[in-house]
Amino acid sequence: MEYFIDSGEKPAIIEYPITQFFMLMVLMILIAIELILSSIENVMFQTLSPEAKERYLESKAKKREWTWAKKMYKRLTKTREIEKEGEIILDHNYDGIRELDNVLPPWWVYLFYATIIFGVVYLIRFHVAGDYDQKLEYEQEVAAAKIAIEEYKKTAKDLVDVNTVEFLSEAADLSAGEKIFATSCVACHMADGGGGIGPNLTDEYWILGGGIKNVFNTISEGGRDGKGMIAWKQSLKPLEMAQVASYILTLGGTTAANPKAPEGEIWVDPDAPESEEIIEEAPMEQVSDSTDVAMN
Ligand code: HEC
Repeated sequence: MEYFIDSGEKPAIIEYPITQFFMLMVLMILIAIELILSSIENVMFQTLSPEAKERYLESKAKKREWTWAKKMYKRLTKTREIEKEGEIILDHNYDGIRELDNVLPPWWVYLFYATIIFGVVYLIRFHVAGDYDQKLEYEQEVAAAKIAIEEYKKTAKDLVDVNTVEFLSEAADLSAGEKIFATSCVACHMADGGGGIGPNLTDEYWILGGGIKNVFNTISEGGRDGKGMIAWKQSLKPLEMAQVASYILTLGGTTAANPKAPEGEIWVDPDAPESEEIIEEAPMEQVSDSTDVAMN
């Protein structure tokens, strides 16, 4: 059975007005129960004899007293009743101003003892045993915060921008990217990325730069003016652009059925270790490409 309503960002009570009706109904039922109970009590009360009525009222009034709390309060304050103040009055008298010899309120004394115990524990822990110091505490907190940020980024992939975008290798992301590519991009880039109106996306040549950051940026901001590649940031979410950019990178090194001639320049990833994967996928092309570079 479903116990939770997924109402997105808005509270369920606003997203689904039916819940308001439901809660109103629950409230009505509660009120009805209260009414029934009090009328039952009333009816029972009427059937009692006068003495029983009195006893009942007495016991009802008694129940409300908080004897436990009252005792506790007395014990913690130790106040003297005004009638008994005579017992503790001191025998000096300045212009009619006199002094009572009250004991310190126990609640205050206990608090004072607690601070002493705290102080001793603190002293031993931080000045004798040297448990940790502020610097260490700070570093630990920064480390914890960094982990938390990483976690958060994982759940909030939509926060990516051109500076933080990374290649998404998860199958779910890539298949999402493939879907976006199939709906929005194939018209110009072909289903296999071989190119048409737009350039070939499977080769090593990039007009606007390869690698996840450049490709993301091209998709987000569009190509050069008048070429036909629009800025997709209006219609695609950042995560979607990262997904489709990642998908495009997986096309690198595949052979398209009808590839368009290379345009632009061979793009070499400045972060060498990251590009290793791509090199491995297409060893043949890499060799010929590097000779091209040498010839240039
Ligand atoms: C209307 C046709 C058209 C559509 C639709 C289109 N593109 Fe393009 N795309 C182009 C053209 C034209 C270029 C070349 C731009 C230039 O030369 O500045 C290009 C360039 C690119 C590049 C850069 C290629 C390079 O060599 O640097 C990428 C990446 C790209 N498109 C991805 C996409 C993605 C992803 C989509 C779908 C969301 C898409 N395109 C939709 C026409 C299109």
